[in-house]
Amino acid sequence: MDVRFLLNGETVELQGICPTATLLDWLRDTRRLTGTKEGCNEGDCGACTVMVQDEAGARTMNACILFLPQLDGKAVRTVEGVAGPGGQLHPVQQAMIEQHGSQCGFCTPGFIMSMVCAHTNGETDFDDRFAGNLCRCTGYAPIIRAAEAAADEPVPPWLAEDVAVARYGADLFAPRSADELATVYAAEPEAVLVAGATDVGLWVTKGLRAPAPIIFLGGCEDLKTIDVTADNIRIGAMADMNRVRSVMGEYHPSYGELIRRYGSVQVRNAATIGGNIANGSPIGDNPPALIALGAALHLRKGADRRTIPVEDFFLDYGSQDRAPGEFVEAVSIPRQADRLKCYKLSKRFDQDISSVCGCFNVEVAEGRVVSAQLAFGGMAGVPKRAARAEACLTGAPWTSDAIAAAQQALAEDFTPLDDMRASAAYRLGAAQAFLARYFAESLGQVVSVLEVSA
Ligand SMILES: Cc1cc2nc3c(=O)[nH]c(=O)nc-3n(C[C@H](O)[C@H](O)[C@H](O)COP(=O)(O)OP(=O)(O)OC[C@H]3O[C@@H](n4cnc5c(N)ncnc54)[C@H](O)[C@@H]3O)c2cc1C
Ligand code: FES
Ligand code: FES
Repeated sequence: MDVRFLLNGETVELQGICPTATLLDWLRDTRRLTGTKEGCNEGDCGACTVMVQDEAGARTMNACILFLPQLDGKAVRTVEGVAGPGGQLHPVQQAMIEQHGSQCGFCTPGFIMSMVCAHTNGETDFDDRFAGNLCRCTGYAPIIRAAEAAADEPVPPWLAEDVAVARYGADLFAPRSADELATVYAAEPEAVLVAGATDVGLWVTKGLRAPAPIIFLGGCEDLKTIDVTADNIRIGAMADMNRVRSVMGEYHPSYGELIRRYGSVQVRNAATIGGNIANGSPIGDNPPALIALGAALHLRKGADRRTIPVEDFFLDYGSQDRAPGEFVEAVSIPRQADRLKCYKLSKRFDQDISSVCGCFNVEVAEGRVVSAQLAFGGMAGVPKRAARAEACLTGAPWTSDAIAAAQQALAEDFTPLDDMRASAAYRLGAAQAFLARYFAESLGQVVSVLEVSA
């Protein structure tokens, strides 16, 4: 397997590499570029953050769960490549010194890369930008002050050149379109598909597995498209979570807010909607929102395509309605008035997997419930609708009595997960509280901790 990319402005060509070699291991062990640190080795701490650029722009990614083949045709900057050729500091480096933004310094290279990328893109929502970088000694205030201080400085010319140089691309070992993928995968139905590798990366770094053969989907540009028509929002399986956030946030703001808390910027830059559905996790954040919106899943095997409701894809824990050689091509959401609210409960506000995720889409006319779609993650072995609670609400007056009855019904709908994230009883209580929250929010009450003030 051959790969070509730019590393800190220089072309790198690698022949015969292991397809699951991570960028972090390669940087540190082979190139001796040890500025990029290993903290958690699972995408959580941001110590390994690098900047990746291609035609789509610059974005941060976690090198610990980034396989080398995913970089083909792209440009990578590590912390060693941020200063100018003559040693001139990047404005964010200078500002970090002046604002005392580093103590032990272990987190610092990762922060610098997130700061450089935000600076390159002109992004100033620093709380979100740095949610995926953990600092345990300096604290965030001086780091954010440094980012603010550098924000108006121009992008140094040595960084601005990366995109143009990277554009030579390279022909790849991986399919270049959905059609090619369909052919390759039908011939190799046992292959492991790698989309953003935010799950598969952990199979390698934490599970010590060596999946093979592998099909990388990153070259299938047609799987990345998002089309909005009068009837539907159709999202290609390879759309990353930051793009999904910006589109869905426009039509269903609460969905956008849910995705703001999905992993971190680095994770969202890699993770795809197709991977989040196909992995079949009972605690993935997209499925409950998609199910509450009545979304459809488009599957393809060879030339054969079929479409099913998203909720029907999840058969049982670890079991999905997907045949060998069949892949997720897209998901489509019917256009509708926005009634959706998504509530995510996790141990940590940012960058944490949900303990419970509840998504609610209830239509009320003249004081009565016309339709109710309530979908939950973390309440069963699969993402699932609350059929009994929905039946309880449908046709009923939209009152606190109806909500109380539906809360009782939730206990019949689910046998919640009971694990280290949350007990079954806690999850059920949280799901019932979510329903009360939705009702209160429909009456115009403030229900978000972010909006509550003294
Ligand atoms: C630090 C961290 C934080 C996270 N936070 C969250 C969170 O807040 N919420 C959340 O829901 N998840 C979270 N995740 C989990 C993960 O990001 C998601 O499940 C992600 O969407 C997976 O997408 P991917 O593109 O990275 O998939 P990959 O890892 O590439 O693949 C995942 C699985 O799906 C299969 N697959 C991928 N694409 C397709 C396709 N088109 N058709 C068929 N099969 C396919 C793969 O073969 C594999 O089995 C987090 C992960 C990390 C590491
Ligand atoms: S080492 Fe922690 S995110 Fe990569
Ligand atoms: S300076 Fe020590 S972790 Fe940030």
